[in-house]
Amino acid sequence: MANRYSEFSLSFSHFVNPKVQLGSEYKHQDILSLEGFELANKEITSWDNYQPTPLHSFDDIAQETGVSSVFYKDENTRFNLKSFKALGGAYAVANLLIKKLKDEGIKANSSDLILGTYKDYTSKLTVCCATDGNHGRSVAWGAQQFGCNCEIYIHQKVSPGREKAIAKYGALVNRIDGNYDESVRIAAKVAESNGYTVVSDTSYEGYTDIPKDVMQGYTVMVDEAMKQMNDTPTHVFLQGGVGGFPSAVVSFLQESLDCPPIFIVVEPVNADCLFQSAVNGEPTPIHGDLDTIMAGLACGEVSVLAWSILESHVTHFMSITDESIPKAMQLLANRKTPIVAGESAVTGLAGYLIACNDSDLKSKLMINENSKVLFFGTEGDTDEEMYEQLVGRSSEQVLNSL
Ligand SMILES: Cc1ncc(COP(=O)(O)O)c(C=O)c1O
Repeated sequence: MANRYSEFSLSFSHFVNPKVQLGSEYKHQDILSLEGFELANKEITSWDNYQPTPLHSFDDIAQETGVSSVFYKDENTRFNLKSFKALGGAYAVANLLIKKLKDEGIKANSSDLILGTYKDYTSKLTVCCATDGNHGRSVAWGAQQFGCNCEIYIHQKVSPGREKAIAKYGALVNRIDGNYDESVRIAAKVAESNGYTVVSDTSYEGYTDIPKDVMQGYTVMVDEAMKQMNDTPTHVFLQGGVGGFPSAVVSFLQESLDCPPIFIVVEPVNADCLFQSAVNGEPTPIHGDLDTIMAGLACGEVSVLAWSILESHVTHFMSITDESIPKAMQLLANRKTPIVAGESAVTGLAGYLIACNDSDLKSKLMINENSKVLFFGTEGDTDEEMYEQLVGRSSEQVLNSL
């Protein structure tokens, strides 16, 4: 292991999920499927300004960590929203409005919605959700684009910058006392009393249809990565919040590849609800204020649908402290071709570099000279102030140092 990454010699926890049967067939098509991906792909790729985000190959990191290749999918440019979440919430809003119109006997598509053809009807509808930033931005953008109202609930720790970025799309943003999980409950309650529709990225008992659409939207990113990589990964390191993002990646690769990779879910130690669920063999909530700089991952309760996919196919769970995050962000900002990556984008990469500094863990994860490692850099500087504080430069300065 080259010295360049020795600063990632940091404490971590690791758990091997005893429920995973290697080589087991993917059987969760009722939640996420390649068929569902085809629908999402057709819809999302038809939107204005759709473009696949870049996939970078890090040959230097591959060489220095002793693997065959390292790839990083960079979501900073996703629809100008700076995160992969743009694919999920907005897709669910479009589907919801199309379905509501169908219930009224109107056959509409998203182009009709963008043109405002049914504005008289859709402008009376309100979508609502809780967020720690990125999902709410996607739902607000979708509501604005497809012509309905939007009300968003954020918790105490959501930064003013993230709040502003949601309000920019015309949503009414309400800040509550309490943490993310409490904001989820409040959004559900408000929606019920006012006849709004919750468009959540997390699923819970009795609420599953819309989160399926949200997660299915994310698979568009996975398909892009596979086409760009032109090879199949042996290892995918995935950051986890409620689990929707990792389960979208796992479902797509597990169903489409003959030889699926080893999946490693990495979480902040103070919000490791997926890790603890693996340890306990069932969805396990984490209490407390979920304090971490990885704002998008500050979730204490798993998404029940996501969990059923992850528990069947994710072999390794890791939890890490915040300490590695600014280091990983700086590492990417200082590359010859600089990359702007936010706090929740680099968790998988940080977990990998931590593992590469620990020979025991590296061998348990079967990382060796034949490994092809894939990361999803799920956000850019979605909190611009925080980014500048942690990296020491703004994203413009980073990109202009090219
Ligand atoms: C940038 C980023 N990465 C990863 C995640 C994790 O996604 P999920 O909560 O679906 O596991 C989030 C969630 O908000 C996020 O904002």
